[in-house]
Amino acid sequence: MCGIVGYIGNKNSAEILVEGLKKLEYRGYDSAGIAVFEKDGINLVKTKGRMKDLEDKLAERGIPQGVCGIGHTRWATHGAPSDINSHPHRSGRVTIVHNGIIENYAELREELEAQGRVFLSQTDTECVSHTIDSMYNGDPIDAIYNAIKKFRGSYALAVLFDDHPETLYAIRHESPLIVGIGEGENFIASDIPAILSRTNKYYLLESNELAIITAGGIELLGADRAPIEKDVFVANWDVSAAEKGGYPHFMIKEIHEQPRALRDTICPRLSEGIDKLFDDEAQNLDFNTIKRIYIVACGSAMHAGMIGRHAIEKLARVPVQVEVASEFRYDTLLFQPGDAVLLISQSGETADTLAALRIAKANGVPTIAIVNVVGSSIAREADMVLYTWAGPEIAVATTKAYTCQVSILLMLAMRMAYERGTAEKAELERLAAELNKVPEIFESMLSSDKEEEYKALAESYKDCEDLFFIGRGYDSSLCWEASIKLKEVSYIHSEAYAAGELKHGTISLIDEGYPVVGIATSDAHYEKTISNVEEVLARGARVILLCNEDVAERLKASTKKVADDFIAIPLVDEFIRPLAAILPLQIFSYYAACARGCDVDKPKNLAKSVTVE
Ligand code: BG6
Repeated sequence: MCGIVGYIGNKNSAEILVEGLKKLEYRGYDSAGIAVFEKDGINLVKTKGRMKDLEDKLAERGIPQGVCGIGHTRWATHGAPSDINSHPHRSGRVTIVHNGIIENYAELREELEAQGRVFLSQTDTECVSHTIDSMYNGDPIDAIYNAIKKFRGSYALAVLFDDHPETLYAIRHESPLIVGIGEGENFIASDIPAILSRTNKYYLLESNELAIITAGGIELLGADRAPIEKDVFVANWDVSAAEKGGYPHFMIKEIHEQPRALRDTICPRLSEGIDKLFDDEAQNLDFNTIKRIYIVACGSAMHAGMIGRHAIEKLARVPVQVEVASEFRYDTLLFQPGDAVLLISQSGETADTLAALRIAKANGVPTIAIVNVVGSSIAREADMVLYTWAGPEIAVATTKAYTCQVSILLMLAMRMAYERGTAEKAELERLAAELNKVPEIFESMLSSDKEEEYKALAESYKDCEDLFFIGRGYDSSLCWEASIKLKEVSYIHSEAYAAGELKHGTISLIDEGYPVVGIATSDAHYEKTISNVEEVLARGARVILLCNEDVAERLKASTKKVADDFIAIPLVDEFIRPLAAILPLQIFSYYAACARGCDVDKPKNLAKSVTVE
């Protein structure tokens, strides 16, 4: 939800801002802009559209020359994407970029207009620049602290004052913001990839801490305005991890990074035996006292939770409820002793998931978070954090973070089962050995002939407009992830449906040639899912059956038609099948989107990190 950057140092800031914004485009790409201090004042260039449009505009107008500036890439909330609604916003002597939502913007605007202030845009952000300017009497610190008292909502702000061209001010509440520490230069950014090619050292700002940044130093003030010292974080992400590395899109690069990401997430944790699994990370959790787990997340992270539910209930015999964070936070929550809340989030900043975490904590419920971004808000606030080691995920559609989340959930189910004595140690060790094989399985499935096969299949379905994914048990949960993947990148409408539920109304949509993907990898449900597949086939559906390779071979050899096309996954232990089964569907979605000419890494209307409600 909007990305912000800032630079102050001895180099030309415009290039550094543009480079940083390109790394933040996953946060929104409705418009982009930069403001740079030049000799004669602020030079502001902004435009509706993507970074490419901004670069074109900069090339046309000339690159601003100056060593201090701020930049923004927008996911529109208040006010349509347009040049005028683009950031930075400038009011009087103040220029700002903002990530977040000022909820009381309407009343602030009314107040400011009554003072004679003229608004140019429809954004909530312009209230911020006007408010700060209206309170500015020569002391930027005073103006910022006084202004934020008036704001309700969320903000990460970078602020420039006309008469302080050598200082950059930054403050945040709810929305993320880091201050990058360089030598003779310093940075601010919404996220690490934006600065990673320049520095891997940074401060994390807490709510209403103010950073006063010059080329030579960073001064930090607490919410009470007293000077503070903070720990320096060091990002261990490889710079190349945030580059495409020869792939045409981040999505396919990240699909191919899964063997490495899964290896890093799984193997070191399993290396010391089931009785040590998560020992370093989960010291203060007594698995025996947990009577019920709420898994709370958004989007694909929630779908990972759906897979986790099957594993935890089956192996550890603990009831699990999977909840959408945006609903959970406003539900009547009837917590009981023994409840635990498990949050899943790639970014660790998703507003609804963060709110759910805070509600659980306020109710005294233990919280566990599965997070990818080290030091993110959810990671810092949860009682315990289990990191996925996927590395930076740039494509809006998650792939490697999702499979790493699933792998952590499988390990959590194993460790809980061990503590609770609901599975034999020998059986858990066998499952650990199977899980350890996952990176290799992914490697072999990513061998080029398989990828070519999934690509050809995707191309042959590229013109369909609607599609069903059906399955039972964990295959039904997989359908949810398969469906969102296809929808978000290819714009082919699809629905995930419990296979047995289809005939309660929805089957009326099935017609000649209607595409249906049946997912039937689960031993317990396979026959029943095949029956449901036959029901749609009998009504003319065009069926892709995703099943284990032994089954595919048998069915292909049979004289009875059960599917038009097959996706055969290697016959792996059922425990790890949900991981193996999603890979071809990720590839299918990717190539379907490419075949339709979609902007794969930046699907329309989406942003990767949703830091607003
Ligand atoms: C969506 C992303 O906006 O948010 C998904 O596109 C993601 O990929 C979901 O699963 C939740 O985000 P996060 O960061 O909390 O995992």
